[in-house]
Amino acid sequence: MKINRLKAKDYSVIIGKNSMNSLASEVKNHCPKCKKIAVIVDKKIPKKFLIKLRKNLKKYKLFIFFISSSEKIKNLDKANLLVNKLLKLNFNRSDLIIALGGGIIGDMTSFIASIFKRGINFINLPSTLLSQVDSCIGGKTGVNSKYGKNLIGSFYNPKVVISETELLKSLPKREIICGYAEILKHAIINDKKFFNFLKKNTKNIILLENKILKESILKSCKIKLNFTEKDFKEKNLRMKLNFGHTFAHALEIRNKYSNKLNHGEAVLIGMLIAIRISKFKNLCSAKTLYEIENLYRKFSLIKNLRKHLSKNEILKSIKFMKNDKKKDDEKISFILLNNIGKTTAPGKFKYKVSQVENLVKRLF
Ligand SMILES: NC(=O)c1ccc[n+]([C@@H]2O[C@H](COP(=O)([O-])OP(=O)(O)OC[C@H]3O[C@@H](n4cnc5c(N)ncnc54)[C@H](O)[C@@H]3O)[C@@H](O)[C@H]2O)c1
Repeated sequence: MKINRLKAKDYSVIIGKNSMNSLASEVKNHCPKCKKIAVIVDKKIPKKFLIKLRKNLKKYKLFIFFISSSEKIKNLDKANLLVNKLLKLNFNRSDLIIALGGGIIGDMTSFIASIFKRGINFINLPSTLLSQVDSCIGGKTGVNSKYGKNLIGSFYNPKVVISETELLKSLPKREIICGYAEILKHAIINDKKFFNFLKKNTKNIILLENKILKESILKSCKIKLNFTEKDFKEKNLRMKLNFGHTFAHALEIRNKYSNKLNHGEAVLIGMLIAIRISKFKNLCSAKTLYEIENLYRKFSLIKNLRKHLSKNEILKSIKFMKNDKKKDDEKISFILLNNIGKTTAPGKFKYKVSQVENLVKRLF
């Protein structure tokens, strides 16, 4: 399979089978003075990739830290622990930190890189579909707090992103669907043609069919880059990427960040709630709602998640929106849908918690 190089303003995204082979040359290019490399690795990454990584980076002093990934470890305590380890090992800004894992490892590692001595070189090797199509792009770093998700963080770009598609072969189907959720979000908010492509090709993406998979990763990254490059610090346009996420984050907190509901699954539920509200407010047509719900049904996207789409569950999660970053004063800002491919403008629809509760009571 051909490797693709997507050129962003500040970094490239290399996508495809065996793209990891380019790691040594990328390190040499981007971090010429690097002597030490710390790799923060998800424990579930198959051994063969670590062997490959060690072989690739044999010229450098390599320190590998294994992490058992979960939203519960994505916090300041864990980040502080790792920062102290790097300080003790005398890492310099010219050295390098690599993340080899999903969005959790990527978000936390990039956060560490951004604060370590005010910024050390960072390379991302995303290992889940979600991280390859979404979290590796746009420079958002972060950890969770007991007050909410990703409330502590920074904006910091990697030197390069290498999306090795072979890594996805060991992912459980549940995680593939989580990644697919963000691909679908990109289509719904920005690209009707891509949505139609997904109607035909979702099964092939979930089965990791090489050509379709790579095309979808590439398209998804392009859509996200289009938003993040125009509005890196999320002042306006980029907020559209939060479509479905206000409800998603609240549901994740309601479930105590447990694996009862993964991030991508919460996004699938959150998008449906946002679309139903859009239809109720006459912002989108019944046809639009039907078309999207039909795709969910056809590919059984939320087959085992119906419980989270109940009135009771949604109502109980709403109180957690109070600390959401998308909140403006006492009102919560929502991105809603006009059409497949077009959302409402950021900041246009803001509701008080009580108004959101009323909407949910009428709709579910
Ligand atoms: N920074 C951003 O812009 C951004 C965007 C979207 C999501 N996120 C964040 O990303 C996180 C979710 O990311 P995720 O879905 O990748 O979760 P994750 O990192 O927890 O990975 C999901 C699961 O897959 C396992 N795993 C990872 N790679 C594997 C592999 N190759 N083979 C087998 N198992 C593997 C992990 O151990 C974990 O159990 C959330 O914390 C979310 O807030 C960030």
